[in-house]
Amino acid sequence: MSTNQSSAIDQLSTEDLGAKLNPNLLPKHVAIIMDGNGRWAEARYLPRIAGHREGVKSIREITQACSDLGIQALTIYAFSHENWNRPAHETSALMNLLEDFLAEESRKLIEHGIRFRTIGRIKNLPASTIQRVHEAEQATAHLDRLHLTVALSYGGRAEIVDAVREILRDVQKGTLQPDEVDEAVLQQHLYTQGLPDPDLLIRTSGETRISNFLLWQLAYAELYFTPTLWPDFRRHEFLLALLDYQGRERRFGRVLSRTTSS
Ligand code: IPE
Ligand code: IPE
Ligand code: MG
Repeated sequence: MSTNQSSAIDQLSTEDLGAKLNPNLLPKHVAIIMDGNGRWAEARYLPRIAGHREGVKSIREITQACSDLGIQALTIYAFSHENWNRPAHETSALMNLLEDFLAEESRKLIEHGIRFRTIGRIKNLPASTIQRVHEAEQATAHLDRLHLTVALSYGGRAEIVDAVREILRDVQKGTLQPDEVDEAVLQQHLYTQGLPDPDLLIRTSGETRISNFLLWQLAYAELYFTPTLWPDFRRHEFLLALLDYQGRERRFGRVLSRTTSS
């Protein structure tokens, strides 16, 4: 996108941005690395948890936006395998926030037809969090308007290791032959089995790395990095990301269709 075009876009209202979107070119699956809560709080001389709390408002707004637009799947990175290395007071505050979110939002999730699921080594979470997560998963298991997947205690490498272990168990049982193991088999053993690969990955806060998120599934995702901190990432910023995505040309290793046609 040229500088002129992007500055013209900067002038547009949220409503105008929505009107510019092509409803036929929306990503089916959006993945988000929600980063920058700590910096948002620190800039206001607030404790980090205040940033996480404000970040929950962004989760609500982006989930609602996906539902309004008819996007089929939203996968958000809420807590990484590596985030266990943070101070205990921060990790337990995050777990409490998640429990509160599920207690408050479960009814709304059901009303909006949103299926809630988690990916990651959920068994590492505190028992009370596991219970809330299972309750929300069960209460929404029949819904499929929007698939909201929350990555918790998640690591992309750990996910691949877990998939390989399951495949090896099948081989040991004799239900699968080593030669039958291909990309499709591996994919079927990932936590995200059943979901299409993300078309668009968004990372907020200016960091331009993947931080062990969906390593297998992001193979052909379009990447969008924005300096906006997660608590400030609302519908307006999301529409900007979607418009940017709609300007991309997805080639999947092929040559352009317009140079091969006719
Ligand atoms: C993202 O915000 C939320 C989690 C990783 C749980 P951070 O807490 O990483 O915020 P920064 O990166 O320190 O600003
Ligand atoms: C990635 O953010 C994990 C989540 C958003 C949950 P981090 O803030 O933990 O990532 P790094 O440490 O900057 O790579
Ligand atoms: Mg961070």
